[in-house]
Amino acid sequence: MNVHAPALANAHLPDERTSAFARDVIADLSQQPKRLSPKYFYDATGSELFEQITRLVEYYPTRTELGILRDCGPQIAAIIPQGAALVEFGAGATTKVRLLLASCAFKTYVPVDISGDFLNEQASALRKDFPDLAVHPVVADFTMPFALPGEIKDMPKVGFFPGSTIGNFEPHEACRFLRSAREILGVGALMIVGADLEKNERMLHDAYNDAAGVTARFNLNLLVRINRELGGNFDISAFTHRAIYNREQHRIEMHLVSRKSQSVRMLGTSFSFRTGESIHTENSYKYSVERFGALARGSGWRVLKTWTDAEKLFSVHALVAEA
Ligand code: AVJ
Repeated sequence: MNVHAPALANAHLPDERTSAFARDVIADLSQQPKRLSPKYFYDATGSELFEQITRLVEYYPTRTELGILRDCGPQIAAIIPQGAALVEFGAGATTKVRLLLASCAFKTYVPVDISGDFLNEQASALRKDFPDLAVHPVVADFTMPFALPGEIKDMPKVGFFPGSTIGNFEPHEACRFLRSAREILGVGALMIVGADLEKNERMLHDAYNDAAGVTARFNLNLLVRINRELGGNFDISAFTHRAIYNREQHRIEMHLVSRKSQSVRMLGTSFSFRTGESIHTENSYKYSVERFGALARGSGWRVLKTWTDAEKLFSVHALVAEA
């Protein structure tokens, strides 16, 4: 058997994930206006930069949501059925879920994420700290239908989608996601969702334009990643971070703006930029309590309870899957 030939043949073939990234980047930069998907922010550097963002004074969402989950722990615990399974859609840092696991009577935890390595790392840490908890990670893209582990078939189910990640979706995608979560969890299931609230423009602006420039680095890292993983030749210093609040659309928009007329190549494709032309990299939708309720109702859920902090910066909603 020739063991060398296959290795050589595969050496230059990008893995499946790289090719999906390549396909998306080429398609999205070919659009008018140009865009890139925020799901590609989170390589190792991007995840570390996001962790730094969550600790910035200007970035209120993370600490405010943690405060709500901590302060309202007993109220949340009161609506969770005995022996329920907690299904988290996308599993990042375990700080938030640890608060729920500490205050509520969950028997089983099912983190669902596309990154298997990360999931397994988090799972072993949780098993150590919660010895009575069964942890069944599922490697899946949580925006698509996936099967729950057979072990939780007969348990009451509670979904968890914190962090205002729902704000990254277009409203129709948020609706599709909530419908799919209802399909997966089943009628009668609960769902705990964190959503950033609409508020004064200054505070929103500052949260995405921090003085230390961490958000700018987080945004620009997308171009660094394209250079490294797709052999791009972006001149990082020729693009600027811009975050603006679009009040009509209730969303923060992040852009990377070209400082000059230039062209950039990657994977044999060339893209030209005008001076001031932008790549739209992220939307972060903000919901009033009323508009979030309308979204939930339109997606097959009923709002059971809504918690906010005293300043009304952030909201946590408990939803029930309607028949
Ligand atoms: C992780 C999507 C909730 O929208 O606030 C932070 C991402 N972008 N700063 C957000 C983000 C810029 C964050 N979410």
